Amino acid sequence: METNPQVIAMPRIGEKAPSFKAVTTQGEIQFPEQFAGNWVILFSHPADFTPVCTSEFMTFATLEKQFEELHCKLVGLSVDGLYSHIAWLRTIKDKIEYKGMKNVEVKFPLIEDITMEVAHKYGMIQPGESSTKAVRAVFVIDPKGIIRTILYYPLSLGRNFDELLRIVTALKAADAFSVATPADWRPGDEVIVPPAGSCGVAKERMEGKSDMKCYDWFFCTKPIAKEQVLAAVKKK
Ligand code: BEZ
Repeated sequence: METNPQVIAMPRIGEKAPSFKAVTTQGEIQFPEQFAGNWVILFSHPADFTPVCTSEFMTFATLEKQFEELHCKLVGLSVDGLYSHIAWLRTIKDKIEYKGMKNVEVKFPLIEDITMEVAHKYGMIQPGESSTKAVRAVFVIDPKGIIRTILYYPLSLGRNFDELLRIVTALKAADAFSVATPADWRPGDEVIVPPAGSCGVAKERMEGKSDMKCYDWFFCTKPIAKEQVLAAVKKK
């Protein structure tokens, strides 16, 4: 007889990031409470000592300064144990040279999760892909501990780090200026303003009486200078 598929609660955008305590390569952490006041990217990888994960860790560590400039901390996780994590990160530092990156030291915490407790809590175990490894999940969490973006990648696909930096930048810009960001937005591009609250405002916009450009009554953009955006997203 077939058993019922287990119902697993997956965290969702707009919800509080599930809380947990864990052992990491940088000591114990209480997540997300310990990171309150900062943005944080919690990400999982399938396994230590695997090539795609190695390329990702080297890239994350190399870009850590750029995430720091956005006040965004990094926290990794896999269902391997602490000694495996330590040995793998040491191998990366001592032996791996890849795409101009060498001597790469991973300074952000890497969670050990041999019981898969955290991985299950965050929906990182997706049995159709693997029941023994976490998929490549990314949770972007804001300074209040709210999940703002979730990405899932399969085992074979390394993440795009420009996109991760773009996501944090765009979320911070949207918050700072109360706007939305259109497709492929980058700092300096026009942003989308919220819909007009009245017919009068909509008419003014359509008549071009402000710095807004309206493609129709529901789709208006305005410029924000790149320097202004970069200054805002570098604030806490
Ligand atoms: C990798 O990181 O290379 C990898 C990990 C698990 C399955 C496939 C690839």
